[in-house]
Amino acid sequence: MKKIKRNILLNPGPATTTDTVKYAQVVPDICPREKEFGDIVRELTRDLVKIVHGEDNYDCILFGGSGTSGVEAVISSVVPADKKILVVSNGAYGTRMAAIAASYGIGTINYRIPYGDYPDIAAVEELISQNRNSISHMGIVHHETTTGMLNPVEDFLALARRYGIELIVDTISSYAGIPIDLRINDYDYIVSTANKNIQGMAGVSFVICKNSLLNGRAPAGRSYYLNLYQQYAFLKNSGQMQFTPPVQVIYALYQAVKEYFLEGAENRFKRYRENWQILINGLLEMGFKLLLPLEHQSGLLTAILDPQDKNYHFNEMHDYLYHRGYTIYPGKGAKESTFRIANIGEIYSTDIKDFLNNLKSYLNQYDIRYF
Ligand SMILES: Cc1ncc(COP(=O)(O)O)c(C=O)c1O
Repeated sequence: MKKIKRNILLNPGPATTTDTVKYAQVVPDICPREKEFGDIVRELTRDLVKIVHGEDNYDCILFGGSGTSGVEAVISSVVPADKKILVVSNGAYGTRMAAIAASYGIGTINYRIPYGDYPDIAAVEELISQNRNSISHMGIVHHETTTGMLNPVEDFLALARRYGIELIVDTISSYAGIPIDLRINDYDYIVSTANKNIQGMAGVSFVICKNSLLNGRAPAGRSYYLNLYQQYAFLKNSGQMQFTPPVQVIYALYQAVKEYFLEGAENRFKRYRENWQILINGLLEMGFKLLLPLEHQSGLLTAILDPQDKNYHFNEMHDYLYHRGYTIYPGKGAKESTFRIANIGEIYSTDIKDFLNNLKSYLNQYDIRYF
């Protein structure tokens, strides 16, 4: 197997992958309607549910598309015509949930606060009380990748239960990177994607959903392509996706899931944590300031305040690092101007240490001192 050039992706996905995952895409041509492919899909969906301990009462529904397609499939399918969704948005991805709902004409109540503020559960409860009988669903992002904030989704689940509301959680950037146990926190719908902490390729999203919410429900039918119920019925009956799947991406995901189990959930979590700890210690030592207090951070991505130095230009820093093999990421509308560094994917503490040395060289070369 020829080694493929290794880039250290410090953007929050698509993440750095193993060569074995990359090569898993090189398979004999196959018609995805064949039983052989159906068997792969069945095993894969079972394993994706297993990762979050939902074997007893959850099913997994795949969609060809990026993570947003999974979020859009749930929102467009599950909210009844005469009901509303309440969205907690303290980042771009919460705001996107509200925008998706609005684009389908779904009544939306948007609890919107500055990107980087911690959600106030009492304020959300107040909004629910004001709209007592009209809210059927609540949407929230687990790890808000805009800022690196880990939202208190467990508390929102308790709130949703108190009011008989179903909870949709965007776990796109937390799934497989932070332990999620559906036996303890029985979210109604969680959504993720192949190309983040599970370390597969971009092109497939998945919804893990309580099967009691799928069986016997009439399709809302707002979207033709992203119809959760229709896709579920196809997968259940035949192991096939309704429309042509991204075949090779699915083979890569199948391999990535095997490698996840081989590494072990705990070890992956520990590796990511160690990466993060080394990263933030190094950043703080150099003088950088972080957007969020440590206790609100996910440990998967860090939003760092842009230095207040006339010599600092994000694009210059990006290019300096990019040419040395490290891809960093700009900010995305946080309440203060930031850039972002993720520590997920097939990367190790030595990669983070090497990255920090390169970052230090950049600061020295451009004489950046004011943070
Ligand atoms: C929390 C979260 N939600 C949604 C998305 C959108 O995913 P995609 O770009 O795969 O559609 C992202 C992407 O980074 C994300 O981090």
